[in-house]
Amino acid sequence: MVSDFLTDPRTGGLLVRPDEFEAIRSLLYEMSGISLNQNKREMVAARLARRVRHYQSASIADYLDRLQTDAAEQQEFVNCLTTNKTDFFRESHHFDYLRDTLLPRLADRRRVRVWSAGCSTGEEPYTLAMTLADHAPQADGWDVKILASDIDTAVLASAAKGVYPDDRLAGLSPDHLRRFFLRGTGANAGKVSVRPGLRDRIAFRRINLMDEPWPVRTRFDAIFCRNVVIYFDRPTQQRLFSRFAELLTPDGLLFLGHSENLHWMAETFTPAGPTVYRLRASADTPPPPAARKLSPIALPKPKVEEHTLILGDVKATRGPAVLKTLLGSCVAACLYDPETGVGGMNHFSLPGASDEGKNARYGAYAMELLITAIMKKGGHRDRLRAKVFGGAKVLNVESERLNVGAKNAEFVLQFLDDEGIPVVGRCLGGTSGLQVRFNPHTGTAGAKPLAGKELPPLVVAEKRFGDELTQKVAEPVDVELF
Ligand SMILES: C[S@@+](CC[C@H](N)C(=O)[O-])C[C@H]1O[C@@H](n2cnc3c(N)ncnc32)[C@H](O)[C@@H]1O
Repeated sequence: MVSDFLTDPRTGGLLVRPDEFEAIRSLLYEMSGISLNQNKREMVAARLARRVRHYQSASIADYLDRLQTDAAEQQEFVNCLTTNKTDFFRESHHFDYLRDTLLPRLADRRRVRVWSAGCSTGEEPYTLAMTLADHAPQADGWDVKILASDIDTAVLASAAKGVYPDDRLAGLSPDHLRRFFLRGTGANAGKVSVRPGLRDRIAFRRINLMDEPWPVRTRFDAIFCRNVVIYFDRPTQQRLFSRFAELLTPDGLLFLGHSENLHWMAETFTPAGPTVYRLRASADTPPPPAARKLSPIALPKPKVEEHTLILGDVKATRGPAVLKTLLGSCVAACLYDPETGVGGMNHFSLPGASDEGKNARYGAYAMELLITAIMKKGGHRDRLRAKVFGGAKVLNVESERLNVGAKNAEFVLQFLDDEGIPVVGRCLGGTSGLQVRFNPHTGTAGAKPLAGKELPPLVVAEKRFGDELTQKVAEPVDVELF
């Protein structure tokens, strides 16, 4: 049974009761629009432990009392609970899109306004500033202004300072580093700071996206709000995107994070590229009118294709479908194109390519077959997203050489990385088999561990095989599972 209290040492011994966690969730939602998942109780306890200690409070309840009246602490509370992961040139195709599509359109006016909404520690607005300095230079008469905002005052202060340790610079080319950054010396060795010429193009402001109205008067040619709304519920997202629509120029673009989309707001936005949206113009094909309410009639439900894959299978579909499989050390890659509803799954058992030629039990060929099958159905390679499953260590063997699961998992991640296909979901490794269900038209997928007597023959056979091997010689053996 799960205890009602958390005493994990990682939480600094702080106890957060379920009712207190509920109070924290609703406070954070009210202040920032962020909806915390139920499974974040431990994370919340760990992050708030520092604030509770700061006041030498005895309990989270005392701290929550203080929050009611202390505005400065309310800001600290939000700062503690935001998620700030970011990088220079994160999802770099967006900056290529800006260069290739937006800037040519603005070339006559030579004026560009961009908002990085939810800018975290500044890597995103500085990447925008570098892209614009390269392709819309002031020397050529361009008037460039970037607004960078965040609710979290700590990350915003760090963004405005523009100082980064060396290990944060992976996305930067040597040329960008040389032209736009100064290397620290003495106490600042191992860090760089943004050159003032670049920093001056950006206005850093604390803006809570939930506040109405925003202190913004200009209209934007582009709004970057990437990896922010994943923490918002649908009604909050809808209100926010409607307000962004009012602030975009008629040709303006909205850039979202890789796991976010706007297909459900088709009356306002229309896709313009991978996770890039523009306002729907009146000349665009209007979205279908809202259905009239008719009296209920019994019609057969639309047929949903359903397929169960076994080892060596590859299946791609277009439209509503369910793809299922059972995995032990095998891996199933589920790929989908969120714009066309095309996607598919494979099921392979060995990493890399086969010596005997084209064999879909091997990962390399299974992945190629899957991508080709998806493209044949009308999916677009550049828009593909991946969710990957399996690669468990179900074999009870000592030899790492026989740990095929780990090798399969490593292979599929490397393959997708090489192909530039983002992995937006994964359930890899572990020691239990999985039952996987994937809806390629929506990209939703779920995996359930196979327990005890439910283990299907597939995994049982794998286990038996492994047990036999351990009883044999320790000598490495070339094995093909299944
Ligand atoms: C994961 S970071 C994304 C940073 C950057 N956009 C990127 O994609 O790399 C999300 C940021 O959104 C900010 N955020 C969350 N809720 C917000 C709100 N209500 N108003 C403004 N910013 C918010 C967080 O503080 C955090 O810095």
